[in-house]
Amino acid sequence: MLALAVALLVAVVIAEYVSFAIALVVAPLIAIACPALFLDRSIPEPEPDEQDEMPAAVLDGISDAVILLDEKRNVVAANRAARELLEEPLEGRDLALSLRHPEALEAANEAISGGTKHSAEIVMRVPVQRVFLVHAAPLPEATAAEPRFLVVLHEVTASRTAEQIRADFVANVSHELRSPLTSLVGFIETLQGAAQEDAATRGRFLNIMADESQRMARLIDDLLSLSRVEANEHVRPEGQLDISELLAGVIDSVSVQAQAKSMAIELIEPGPLLPVVGDRDELIEVFQNLIVNAVKYGREETPVRIAVSSVERIPEVGGRGLSVEIMDQGEGVAAEVIPRLTERFYRVDKGRSRSMGGTGLGLAIVKHIVNRHRGRLVIRSEVGEGSQFIVYLPVSEPETTQKAS
Ligand SMILES: Nc1ncnc2c1ncn2[C@@H]1O[C@H](COP(=O)(O)OP(=O)(O)O)[C@@H](O)[C@H]1O
Ligand SMILES: [Mg+2]
Repeated sequence: MLALAVALLVAVVIAEYVSFAIALVVAPLIAIACPALFLDRSIPEPEPDEQDEMPAAVLDGISDAVILLDEKRNVVAANRAARELLEEPLEGRDLALSLRHPEALEAANEAISGGTKHSAEIVMRVPVQRVFLVHAAPLPEATAAEPRFLVVLHEVTASRTAEQIRADFVANVSHELRSPLTSLVGFIETLQGAAQEDAATRGRFLNIMADESQRMARLIDDLLSLSRVEANEHVRPEGQLDISELLAGVIDSVSVQAQAKSMAIELIEPGPLLPVVGDRDELIEVFQNLIVNAVKYGREETPVRIAVSSVERIPEVGGRGLSVEIMDQGEGVAAEVIPRLTERFYRVDKGRSRSMGGTGLGLAIVKHIVNRHRGRLVIRSEVGEGSQFIVYLPVSEPETTQKAS
């Protein structure tokens, strides 16, 4: 019995990490070798209830659902993951009563009738959508007195989601590049034909073409920024910088845009602050994005306020830091879309964002940079009132000399 359990356990582990083929070869060897090892060392057979203890505990520790079936497809044994995933009671009943997925049952049937390994992919929709790979295979005859069949459900939701995000991203990038390109091609054709002699039309078209090519350039710059930050997100920046000076520089660079909408940018500071631990260029990008957004999405003739304060503890992340709060009085966004704002290419109003030169990547870049700094981004917004984007950043802890003084 112990040999069977150990063989089963090893088969499961190998099946999960290597392949069923190897598992099927190794399992009977262990089943045969195990009793021999015990005999060789003249270790007495453990008491009956001790026998199952170790393998059962180990099987329960495996995150995949593991189920052992008999020839009639009835469940003989199941580990904890299986009991949590499937409808109970499992043991002693047809698997179909607990796992209502035709593809999974078909794989089990084929393993039972055909005696070979079968796999299927199933999607469980309740309570949340999860994707599983189901592997069904007969256990080698030597491992059990009666024919037994192993069914393993291995969750692949995370990798399927990642694949989907990658596919969506490529589709989005292609689409975003295609529209300015299509417009450029159109204008070039018109300039080559009908508009050739008309200086006024030519001038107008060239301006639009310049805008469209700048849009493509911005998109490519943002994509490169995003991939650069993603690539080194796990490496924490080491530089130290003065946040007030950095913010003053960014405010200067945005002032022309603000003046065009008769908006003032106010900086509210509590006096001297500890230096921020961070990468200057990346933090300029963060505040540039947020302040430009506040100007773009804020109402004309309303101020944008930027308030800096020290915080004892960065929420959720921990550690001493400071917060930079960027507040606008604009249209705001609905509560349900707030979590989506930092998704790549997510824009509440696509046409509007585009017409203002937006790529929809700004907040995704901001979020990645803040994560890299072990900081935190908090967004609050109310429709019709305005939005607050709060960036928490870690500061360099004061030196002991400063503490003493
Ligand atoms: N201050 C803000 N007020 C209202 N909506 C905002 C604000 N900042 C960002 N948004 C919304 O979030 C979306 C994503 O922002 P972002 O990633 O910077 O892209 P972009 O500015 O290029 O459109 C914007 O399109 C807009 O709908
Ligand atoms: Mg933006």
